[in-house]
Parts: sequence; C-alpha cells; structure tokens
Amino acid sequence: MKLLILARPEDAVATCVTVIAKALVEKPNAVLGLATGGTMEPVYDGLVQRAKAGEISLARATSFNLDEYVGLSPEHPQSYHRFMQDRLFRPLALDPARTHLSRGDAADPVAEAARYDAAIAAAGGIDLQLLGIGGNGHIGFNEPSSSLASPTRVKTLARATRDANARFFGASEPIPRFAITMGIATILRSRHAVLLATGAQKAEAVAAMVEGPLSARCPASALQMHPRATVVLDAEAAAGLELRQYYETVHPEGQETSLD
Ligand code: GLP
Repeated sequence: MKLLILARPEDAVATCVTVIAKALVEKPNAVLGLATGGTMEPVYDGLVQRAKAGEISLARATSFNLDEYVGLSPEHPQSYHRFMQDRLFRPLALDPARTHLSRGDAADPVAEAARYDAAIAAAGGIDLQLLGIGGNGHIGFNEPSSSLASPTRVKTLARATRDANARFFGASEPIPRFAITMGIATILRSRHAVLLATGAQKAEAVAAMVEGPLSARCPASALQMHPRATVVLDAEAAAGLELRQYYETVHPEGQETSLD
C-alpha cells in the first residue's frame, strides 16, 4: 500500500485528482471504476475543471460505478446515476454508452449484478478504481462480514450506512435497504486502486484498513492484498495510524517518490 498523507482535505483531494489525471494522460481510453459519496464531490469538481482547462480528457475513457441502490431508477434524485450525471457525466457531456452503473431498478437485481461483472470483464477490466470508505470500513457497499472473495451482488445495507447516508434523503423519504455493489473480488481485480478518505470520522476505519488484520470485519482491509493500492488521506483521516511517521518518511507531505 502506498500511503500519501496531506495536511488539508483539499490537498488530499488535489492529490487524488492528480493520480486520476495521470492515469488518463498515460492511457486516454482507460477503464475507470468510479465512486460516489460526499468525499468524491470535490474530486469530480477537480476532474471537470481540469478537463475544461484542456489538461485531460475523459472522452475516450469508459467508466463503471461501484454501486447503486436497489429500487431507485436512474432518474431518482438520490440515485447514484443522478449523482454521476450531475457531478461528472453531464458537465463533460460524456457519451452515455461509455458510462456504466448497475440498474437499481432492474426486474432481477441478482441477474443484474452478474451482468455487471461480465460487462466489466468484457471491457477489459478496470485500470483505476476510485474508492471512498465508510465509517464502518465498507468499500462500495461491501459491509462488514462481506466475503473477501465476493463478486458484484446485492447487499443489505448496515444500519450505520443507512444512517450516514440519510443526509442525502428527504426527512420523509425511505432510505433504501439494499444495494447492488461491486464485490471485493471485483475491486481487487482492478489494476490500480485509489482510496481517498478525509476527516476525523474516517480515522478509525482507515487505521483498521491499513494496520488492522486482514478481515471481513473491515472490508477495506482487503486492499492489503491489492498489488497496487494508493491511499490518499488528510491529516485527520490519518490520525489513528500508528506507523504514520514511517509513511510520511516514505512520502513526505504526500509526495510521490521516484522509488515506490
Ligand atoms: C457510501 C458509498 C461508498 C462511499 C462511502 C463514504 O455509502 N457507497 O462508495 O465510499 O459511503 O461516503 P462519504 O464519502 O459520503 O463519507
């Protein structure tokens, strides 16, 4: 794991945007795995800004999102389809044929999950998988106890996750109980995994992911098995790391080193 620790959240976001931009410059037709959540909002703002400035282009890239709520149509304001449309796809007028999310409103969500894994494989697999982390250590919607060998499938959301995501829903709106999520095996097959976490509320999950045992108790700890995982943190999210000094020696101020 490569740990890049930046002082402020905006610095961590900028570093994450740079990692993605670099991947796109190296491979303009990259297959990107995309994430949602509040942490990702400034990342997409940064990508849109760089694309509009002509520094990068996503026009030839293909994308697959991590997850979607079961029962929500792509038009639903709280669906991840809408999140991506609003934040990235529409601002850059990306070709809808190249942007993929699983269909939460599929008649058969179990079959939809299998179709989605097959579509990722048919596209050649994911070059760069962007990830956030839940306060309980989830990645995508792989809640604690998820098989570390899981394919894309339907998962029941944890109470903590529904509570954390309630802020995106209206007071009287039901919060979905299920989601289709890329599995942990799907995520581990990506050629580069980039996880961004900011804020004190992520410190415990980050410490468990990086320094805790490899365990389904913290699904993100599966990234310890990933051959190329980059974890980008701000100081608050890094606060629980016992070996922080070492990580900062390897990558002072979150800078890439030539020998990594
Ligand atoms: C959500 C998403 C995850 C995301 C996480 C953190 O439930 N399914 O992909 O990483 O929770 O979200 P946030 O960035 O809003 O804290």
